[in-house]
Amino acid sequence: MAKERTLCIIKPDAVEKKKTGAILAMLEDKGFDLVAVEKLQLSQAVAEGFYAVHKARPFFGELVDFMKRSPVVVVVLEREDAVAEYRKLMGATDPAKAEAGTIRKAHGGSVGENAVHGSDSLENAKGEIAYFFSASKVAPTAG
Ligand code: CMP
Repeated sequence: MAKERTLCIIKPDAVEKKKTGAILAMLEDKGFDLVAVEKLQLSQAVAEGFYAVHKARPFFGELVDFMKRSPVVVVVLEREDAVAEYRKLMGATDPAKAEAGTIRKAHGGSVGENAVHGSDSLENAKGEIAYFFSASKVAPTAG
């Protein structure tokens, strides 16, 4: 299985609860390398652009308001089969339905405030990583 990269966003609810370190530790414990980590405040335009695919959904406005409420931490993750493995570790969108041992079970509060985002495919991961990180910040590492 080849090494892949995927994008994790630690959302405002988890950052506010001081769970950034705990979530990064869960990721490292599962073998993910943290290729790039940055804390930033999303603007209306950046939040809307990131979630443009959900623009027609009834919860779009609520989602954008939540994501710009306070800072997020964006993380580029790398390991073998990273997209699928991170989605497993993240757990179901609704934390109430997430399995024990997942990030959303441990730190999510509701379907809207669910601690983390993860790319849903390798193709989307590439686009989402490029949305937040310039190529020089996520250059392939030697070895
Ligand atoms: P995420 O993986 O970041 O991608 C889209 C997000 O929309 C999803 O996580 C949820 O947090 C959010 N979402 C999905 N359904 C709802 C809903 N019914 N109400 C509010 N937010 C939702």
